[in-house]
Amino acid sequence: MAEAQARQRGGYTEDVSAERLAEIGLRFEVDGEVATVTLDRPEKRNAQTFATWSALARIGENLPERVRVVVVKGEGPSFSAGIDLRMFTAEGVPGQGSFSAAAKSEDADFEQRIRQAQAGFLWLRRPEIVSIAAVQGHAIGAGFQLALSCDLRIVADDVKFCMKEPALGLVPDLTGTKPLVELVGLAKAIDICLTARTVHADEAMRIGLAESVVAGGDLERAVQDKIGQLLSTNRDAAAATKRLLQGAQARTLEEQSVAEGIEQAARIKALFG
Ligand code: ACO
Repeated sequence: MAEAQARQRGGYTEDVSAERLAEIGLRFEVDGEVATVTLDRPEKRNAQTFATWSALARIGENLPERVRVVVVKGEGPSFSAGIDLRMFTAEGVPGQGSFSAAAKSEDADFEQRIRQAQAGFLWLRRPEIVSIAAVQGHAIGAGFQLALSCDLRIVADDVKFCMKEPALGLVPDLTGTKPLVELVGLAKAIDICLTARTVHADEAMRIGLAESVVAGGDLERAVQDKIGQLLSTNRDAAAATKRLLQGAQARTLEEQSVAEGIEQAARIKALFG
């Protein structure tokens, strides 16, 4: 109820207040049509917890309608060193449990918890927004998957992507496997995940993981340039085009042509009707 009221007011629920986000190690800022989510625990290399993911989900749920571009970035030398390694200890992360505790819970309960965590990543693909990951330094495990959950990746030349989960006995479960396969193909995705090797900037660019590679000091400017380009197109046409592009792989050429016609008819009506 309070949550619904907060949303009606256009404000944020307690879960995404600046103070709560700071406790979790996140910042969220909106400037006109651009929102920025910053992983802000640089002293722990922006390690992520279940609280990070539920806060990300809440940010997505409460994203102001005017926002067209969402930038996801990390403070400090690394974008994100992945899941907080305290999850692997008996003590776990205070208030959030541990993998040993999860192993004792019902499968369905833990699967549900994973679904909730995934909600923190999935909203970044909404057609109404374009999400950009600005990635420097390490993007490991959950950090790599967060970068993969964005539409575009602009990276610094010191970037180090690593899907470490299989080396730790886990699978990547934070929505990263599908975009990885779509970006680099099945063979390369198998290579990257099942060796848990590091992908550096030159390879990231070559295999389509990154849209552009810039010197570390130029990352912010490169992101700003991309934002300017993205905001130069028509908002509704951009959302309709993203819907079309997102659906293209699952449709036949004939089905895609029909979908193009439907979207275009709606555009013409909106523009000239
Ligand atoms: N969880 C918790 N704390 C972390 C994590 C993490 N994932 N990564 C780094 N930290 C902490 C370190 O313990 C250290 O804390 P301390 O100063 O209190 O000792 C601090 O962050 C800095 O870490 P360093 O290792 O000193 O930083 P450096 O820049 O030399 O190395 C690197 C960075 C390569 C990312 C290294 O920290 C590392 O390998 N981290 C673990 C990566 C990992 O295995 N993540 C899990 C992936 S799987 C998944 O996400 C599901």
